[in-house]
Order: sequence, then C-alpha cells, then structure tokens
Amino acid sequence: MKPKIHITPTAQSLAEFACDWLVNLIEEHCRTHSAPFTLALSGGSTPKRLYQLLAELPVATIDWKRIVLVWGDERNFPKEHADSNFRMVKENLLDHIDIPPENILAVPNPGALPEVAAQQYEALLRKELSPGANGFPVIDCVLLGMGEDVHTASLFPQTMALRESSRWTVANHVPQHNTWRVTLTAPCINSARHVAFLLSGQGKESALQTLWYGPFDPQLYPAQLIQPTDGQLWFLADRAAVGKVELTN
Ligand code: 6PG
Repeated sequence: MKPKIHITPTAQSLAEFACDWLVNLIEEHCRTHSAPFTLALSGGSTPKRLYQLLAELPVATIDWKRIVLVWGDERNFPKEHADSNFRMVKENLLDHIDIPPENILAVPNPGALPEVAAQQYEALLRKELSPGANGFPVIDCVLLGMGEDVHTASLFPQTMALRESSRWTVANHVPQHNTWRVTLTAPCINSARHVAFLLSGQGKESALQTLWYGPFDPQLYPAQLIQPTDGQLWFLADRAAVGKVELTN
C-alpha cells in the first residue's frame, strides 16, 4: 500500500491538520467498531502542539472513554522527570481531558530496571490489546516522530531492538545517548491500521531524504523498518521538514 502524504505550510498548520485527521480516524472507527480506538503516542517535541490541540477540542468531539492510549516509546526516567514522554503527554493532554485512568496504558515503572519495565509493559498491552492473526496487536493508529539519524520511536541505529521479531515491547540500550529506552518493536508498529510519521522543521529533511531515497539499510536507518503489513502509512509533514525531498504517493 503506497504511503499517503499531506504537507502543510507551517508547524501550526501541521498540528491542526493532524488533529482533524486523527479526529476523523476516531469518528470513523467509533461509527463502525464497538472496541475502543487504540492510539500509540509519540514522544519528543513535535507532537506536543497536536496533543495541545486535542486537549482544546470541544468536549463532545472525542469520547475519551472510547480511546485507549499507549506509548510508542518511553525514556528510562520516572514519570515526573522532565524528559519523560509520559510527563509530556500528561502536561499537554491527559491533564486536560476526561479519560478513564484504565484507558491510559503507560510504561509501568519507567526509570527502574528497563528490562523489567519492558516486560511489564508487554504484559499490560497483552492484557488489554488482543493480538491479531500475526500475534501482534492491531493498534488503530501509531504516531511516530523521526530523528536526524532516521531513528523512530526508540528504534535507534545499530541497536538490539531492530532485530526483535516476536516481542511487542523491548528495552533497548542506546549507546549513542548512553541511555536505555522502552519501545514498541517494528513488527508491533507494522501491525497497526494506521502509522503516521509526524515531521516538522528543516532538521527532518535529510533524514526524510534518506528514508525515502537512501540505500535500504534498516540497521543504519531504522525508520525504514516501518512498513505496515496491512495498514496505511502516512507522512504528515510541514514544508520545512520536506524541503527539497520529492514525496510522491
Ligand atoms: C522520543 C521519540 C523519538 C522522537 C524523535 C523526534 O522519545 O524522543 O519517541 O522517536 O519522536 O526523536 O523527536 P522530535 O519530535 O523532538 O524531533
């Protein structure tokens, strides 16, 4: 399935488009499914404005009781730490919406033992999300960012997580940043119905060029692993992120 692309003039219009796009996905899902809509949130800075816009929607727009939130990845810090992806989502979204606590499937005990956190996170997801035919969950929408090194989630170049083929979540040592992360694995992300890269700013242009036109080498360029099995891949980007990259679908 070819990726779908939407390019906006600015970072703000990207967040606004992404908000409308996500609301439409949710509305469509809720019209045709009784199960909740599962949304995997990206960390980093790019999605903050999107989360703020979701939080500012008129209350009736999204019935958060029908939404389950998971994290695409988490840094190895406690939830109150300034670098925590949970804290970023809490400050920009969770503190402003009426979502049942049981719908918030955050990485348990981040900042302790990463492998334990990864195992507990997988157990939590397996308890709440039913596996699809391939043994992985069918998450309705996974939001992803991308780093200048073409990493996505916490799938960093030449790290062990890139080779995982059966677990849903793993602890991943990232020597480039001398840190541990907990991340959804590529096969888990690829089982989603919709996977959307949200890209903003000129710092993304080179990585986007490599992702689309560079040599296929996922060990070096992990975002190349993201090829949804049956789902739809999206590139939602502002003009600065795209630059001179020829994005054609
Ligand atoms: C994280 C993210 C990571 C992020 C990219 C882009 O925990 O940091 O999961 O994959 O999406 O590094 O980050 P920015 O949006 O800040 O550019």
